[in-house]
Amino acid sequence: MERTVNILGFAGSLRKGSYNKALLRAALELVPRDTRLEIFDLEGIPPFNQDLENQPSEKVKEFKAKIRAADAILIATPEYNYSIPGVLKNAIDCASRPYGDNAFEHKPVAIMGASPGMTGTARAQYHLRQCFVFLTCFALNQPEVMVPFAQEKIDREGKVTDQKTKEKIRELLESLVAWTNKLKGA
Ligand SMILES: Cc1cc2nc3c(=O)[nH]c(=O)nc-3n(C[C@H](O)[C@H](O)[C@H](O)COP(=O)(O)O)c2cc1C
Repeated sequence: MERTVNILGFAGSLRKGSYNKALLRAALELVPRDTRLEIFDLEGIPPFNQDLENQPSEKVKEFKAKIRAADAILIATPEYNYSIPGVLKNAIDCASRPYGDNAFEHKPVAIMGASPGMTGTARAQYHLRQCFVFLTCFALNQPEVMVPFAQEKIDREGKVTDQKTKEKIRELLESLVAWTNKLKGA
């Protein structure tokens, strides 16, 4: 019998009307059978200060505990200046420290991203993949879910209306679950 796969998802945006938060909300409705997706909001994670890395805030402690408890991670990243937003990088930095206490170690991880631009966060996603090398995450390579012209695919209520985008998210979730089970030897 397949056991439940628990995924923790977070978006690299604090914006209420975030397209990337919308992708995660859509994912809640598209998870495969025997899969649970919990969304974590990065709001409240303080700027990382290495002087204080041994006294993390409650929010960082909670974030690290949730990452550790999850079987897999799903990140929805915006693209800022051809890279990942500082909010996302800061959260990753906080959860990876102090040295030897990296919550992401050996976690299967998948990426998706939406932008009003024509490349749909492609450049940010490749920068994020670079971080996974030092984090020793097991990144899912395919499918790549890059959602360009997001304003045409997500409505004003923050609902993904585009069928092809929903299909890609469904495919990503199925692949992440298969990847997670493979890594666990299930
Ligand atoms: C500081 C900043 C830099 C941006 N740089 C890019 C960029 O390099 N590429 C891009 O496609 N969009 C860029 N944008 C537009 C974002 O894709 C857009 O604001 C998007 O809605 C952010 O994601 P969100 O909706 O999840 O908050 C930038 C926006 C900001 C605020």
